[in-house]
Amino acid sequence: MPYNRIEIAPSILASNFARLGEEMRVVEQGGADMIHVDVMDGHFVPNITIGVPVVASLRKATRLPLDVHLMIENPEQYIEAFVRAGANRVLVHQEATPHLDRALAMIREAGAEAGAVINPATPVEMLGDVLDKVDTVLVMSVNPGFGGQKFIPRATKKVRQVNELRERLRYDFRIEVDGGVENEHAAELVQAGANTLVAGTSIFHTPDPAEAVRKMKRAAMQALGKGFEKGA
Ligand code: DX5
Ligand code: ZN
Repeated sequence: MPYNRIEIAPSILASNFARLGEEMRVVEQGGADMIHVDVMDGHFVPNITIGVPVVASLRKATRLPLDVHLMIENPEQYIEAFVRAGANRVLVHQEATPHLDRALAMIREAGAEAGAVINPATPVEMLGDVLDKVDTVLVMSVNPGFGGQKFIPRATKKVRQVNELRERLRYDFRIEVDGGVENEHAAELVQAGANTLVAGTSIFHTPDPAEAVRKMKRAAMQALGKGFEKGA
């Protein structure tokens, strides 16, 4: 079960794109567990970011696993290419495909961990029939498209709901949260059942991103300790 390991995944969307290698090294020094990569196509979300060639370059510049968040229409068409480029975990939105089951199977067949993502307006129940096919459930805590937005508090409740399902049905997928996550949210999210915290602005838009990672991890681990004391 994944409950005793917390991952901090800095989102490079908030970093300096002209210095991606260096930005990744800095957060690695702070103890980052993964690099979160936001892929946007200007259709599924109103922004365009990066694609397969950049992921391939990132792969060469870091040993950290790449957590590739696809905010694109027709994700099935690109899954294999992203895995081949070096994605370790590929996350697809429930809202982006009528064939989520197939997309998740494709990710695993390509050799990566499969993640299913839900937007703030999508109920947890929409993932009910694929929970046995995911390695990660990602609960969005902002409407995807941009970094630097404000955390939507209801996400914590959704994390708790996913966690309840996981415990009741004895699954062992991870629960990830993405969007507006700051240090002050770490404790409540971890206690609700989150295992992976994605954070962009609250890490890269600080004077010392390595220290920001350390602080967030400390806050999360302390909350995990308390959770265990309470028998969670
Ligand atoms: C939002 C992206 C997030 C975002 C996180 O569409 O999926 O990963 O980059 O960045 P912050 O922490 O700035 O919200
Ligand atoms: Zn993301």
